[in-house]
Amino acid sequence: MTKPFILFIICALLAISVFADDLQLPIPRKTGGMPLMEALAARQTSRSFSARPLSDQQLSDLLWAAFGINRDSGKRTAPSARNGQEIDLYVALESGLYLYDAKENRLVQQLSRDLREQAGVQPFTQQAPVDLIYVADYDRVRGHPEFYSAADTGFISQNVYLFCASEGLNTVVLGMVEKEALHEAMKLSPSQHIILTQPVGFPPE
Ligand SMILES: Cc1cc2nc3c(=O)[nH]c(=O)nc-3n(C[C@H](O)[C@H](O)[C@H](O)COP(=O)(O)O)c2cc1C
Repeated sequence: MTKPFILFIICALLAISVFADDLQLPIPRKTGGMPLMEALAARQTSRSFSARPLSDQQLSDLLWAAFGINRDSGKRTAPSARNGQEIDLYVALESGLYLYDAKENRLVQQLSRDLREQAGVQPFTQQAPVDLIYVADYDRVRGHPEFYSAADTGFISQNVYLFCASEGLNTVVLGMVEKEALHEAMKLSPSQHIILTQPVGFPPE
């Protein structure tokens, strides 16, 4: 074997090990769904969930609806103050904690621990297959970071509510979260702040 070939094999193996636990999502479906007025009529909070996981396609569609990129400019499905895009979507699944990379349409694994129990103080966060955790990076907000981050999270959360109404999924946005403990468990940096969480899943069978 030649030296360049061995080098190539090493690089390939390294790349595989780096991305092994990430989840490449299928291209989100940007058509169909329920007519908007019907989705608004169906939007509601539900606090019970089946353990049935969402398919990768549903996860991709959910995250794109929540805060995906919807224009060539890189802007998103939800507005943000001065286009700061300071809200990151962390996704707690049974298999671990992931960060939604909207550009690459990928879930990048942060931890291999199941953190769903800590996504809220109510027991259903553990039952839901997906817990979204909205995290603001105050370093990306110019002026009034608390106010803008809370407002910007609200738009994303409502996108999730409407997507869930359209897809027949249950969801509830949560403010009752032990944020300090979750911040530590997620190994976030000091500029990152947990705003709200939002379990999503099928209704119980
Ligand atoms: C900022 C915010 C925080 C909330 N926090 C919680 C929570 O911690 N636990 C919970 O069960 N519901 C929570 N909710 C859901 C509300 O209780 C719910 O939206 C309200 O009862 C109205 O019901 P609806 O969403 O079906 O219209 C929260 C809602 C908002 C907007």
